[in-house]
Amino acid sequence: MLKNKIDVCNLGAYDFGSKRPHDNFIISFIWKHIVFYPTPSNLNVFWSFGSLAGLFLVIQIVTGVFLAMHYTPHILYAFDSVENIMRNVEYGWLVRYMHSNGASFFFIVVYIHIFRGIYYGSYMYPRAAVWVSGVIIFLLMMATAFLGYVLPWGQMSFWGATVITNLFSAIPIVGPSIVEWLWGGFSIDNATLNRFFSLHFILPFVIVAAVVLHLAFLHEVGSNNPLGINQHVQYIPFYPYFAIKDAFYLWVCFFFYFSFVFFAPNFLGHPDNYIPANPMVTPAHIVPEWYFLPFYAILRSIPNKLGGVVAMFGSIIVLLFLPILNWSCMRSSDFRPIFRVLYWFLVCDFIILGWIGQQPVETPFIEIGIFATLFYFMFFLVCIPVVGLIEKNIISKAL
Ligand code: HEM
Repeated sequence: MLKNKIDVCNLGAYDFGSKRPHDNFIISFIWKHIVFYPTPSNLNVFWSFGSLAGLFLVIQIVTGVFLAMHYTPHILYAFDSVENIMRNVEYGWLVRYMHSNGASFFFIVVYIHIFRGIYYGSYMYPRAAVWVSGVIIFLLMMATAFLGYVLPWGQMSFWGATVITNLFSAIPIVGPSIVEWLWGGFSIDNATLNRFFSLHFILPFVIVAAVVLHLAFLHEVGSNNPLGINQHVQYIPFYPYFAIKDAFYLWVCFFFYFSFVFFAPNFLGHPDNYIPANPMVTPAHIVPEWYFLPFYAILRSIPNKLGGVVAMFGSIIVLLFLPILNWSCMRSSDFRPIFRVLYWFLVCDFIILGWIGQQPVETPFIEIGIFATLFYFMFFLVCIPVVGLIEKNIISKAL
């Protein structure tokens, strides 16, 4: 027993290859990818956010399936069916609040997961495929969350759907036809709600498939770690070490999640969504869910409609190119002093964009929004390549 413990702590002494006791494919798969999966021993808390994201994906699917048993996707009944879930269905309120707050927590966890990736250079070689599949998951998550927010058919559901679907009308020539095609008619109506429900139900399963691919790419090369190097790093089995660590952070996260579910279930939502949708009354401010606010701010910072739409989608698409925009050979920002400062500027910039997204379109918010949008794109398109070049130069001179 003791010998085994000592072996585990010695670099290379732990023979992962020999720990496959079975010929059965499923058992040996679990052994190889979960139990004895070689994991760098120095992973910090930020490496637990991938598992937490997986957990929230499961919570969303399970609670979503139960909600769908009582929800009616019809413009005359949708709002009331949600109220019925809240008031009459046994524990319906709990399932609904777990689902709505689960969406928020899913985004919190995934935002931290993405920013971890940027800080520790997890998007760099050899994990470009892991990163790119992650960005695709993020796009799918955004689409799913947008569709879900329309379903309760409150004022924000209706007007949010109106603003976002109308964005496509900015596309030259085919734009208006695309909007009609999305609506399934000449306005947002029953056909729209019906197809949104159908897509909102199916997309999470597409996300599951994408996550399987994401993890397959990751297990091809193994996890990065806070040092950003794979040599001279100890590898230990995932179970029990990281299974216990992830379980610990799961309970920490549950503490915050259930605090919202039980004590502030509507804090992250918008009160106007408790007013039934009314196409004749426009709310004073149409704001999306908080997790879309930074991108909404980018959309509104460009005075031209098509320009705004391009910038908004561009702000996510630019992430796909991160692996080729980076020319540095160092991953971890712990060892990249210039990049580290710029990274924290990006974090502040993203928070400022989120704040701007909920302000009225007037001075000084317009100017701050334009400046924050400029910095966002500058970070990815200028800072990352230039800092990479500077670092390469310094290192080649030092060698
Ligand atoms: C449903 C959403 C997602 C789930 C369930 C998920 C799951 C995971 C898991 C379990 C890991 C391994 C543990 C960890 O490193 O934290 C991981 C790693 C990774 N994920 Fe995700 N992920 C999701 C979304 C994303 C997104 C949106 C991105 C980027 C845009 C991303 C990029 C990465 C990268 C680069 C790694 C490798 C990290 C490293 O080894 O340093 N993931 N993911």
